[in-house]
Amino acid sequence: MPSVRGLAFDAYGTLFDVHSVIEACRRVTPEAEAFSREWRAKQVEYTWLRALMGRYEDFWRVTETALTFALKRFGLQVGPAQRAALMEAYLSLAPFPEVPAALERLKGLPLIILSNGSPRMLEAVAEASGLRPYFRAIVSVDAIRTYKPSPRVYELATPALGLPREEIGFVSSNGWDAIGAKAYGFQVFWINRGAAPLDELGVVPDREIRGLDELAGLLGH
Ligand code: LAC
Repeated sequence: MPSVRGLAFDAYGTLFDVHSVIEACRRVTPEAEAFSREWRAKQVEYTWLRALMGRYEDFWRVTETALTFALKRFGLQVGPAQRAALMEAYLSLAPFPEVPAALERLKGLPLIILSNGSPRMLEAVAEASGLRPYFRAIVSVDAIRTYKPSPRVYELATPALGLPREEIGFVSSNGWDAIGAKAYGFQVFWINRGAAPLDELGVVPDREIRGLDELAGLLGH
């Protein structure tokens, strides 16, 4: 492997645990885990559909419409204040437990976030978690109004890090994102938190790891 001279991180599911919203979900349903999974699955699906249709709406709006769908599927009716509380949970997602210490070990490299999130959502979650200072830049797909895994999205990392794609390590726990990033040409580290099988798309990330702490070890930090 050529050496990794900078790192680009996915945000949701990789640095920040989207299922942190479960607490907020518990206030509207006893099936909070299943509801949260449905909400996340629809959110991701809507990004793919909107990108394919050429009908971009930002990730806040996508997250809201996915919430509306999940509420309908679970037969739940909530008032505006409860809806707002569910959405706001997205602005203060908890980082995975090993993430702060791993970023501290990796901070000798230039680090960026490259995410589907809207700029406001990403800045908010990075600030709330205390992780903002680790990142040289927070790069949102909003600049080009499409979603991962479009190669146009991954291309945004190159100017942000000032490095060619072969020297950028891309880190994601979302298998489809890791595959998209590998197809683009990064060196890819897939954090397979759920021990899931890799999607059969004919593209394989360079390394499969269990947590971000392992990456710091692999890169010798
Ligand atoms: C992101 C989604 C893919 O942060 O988790 O871009």
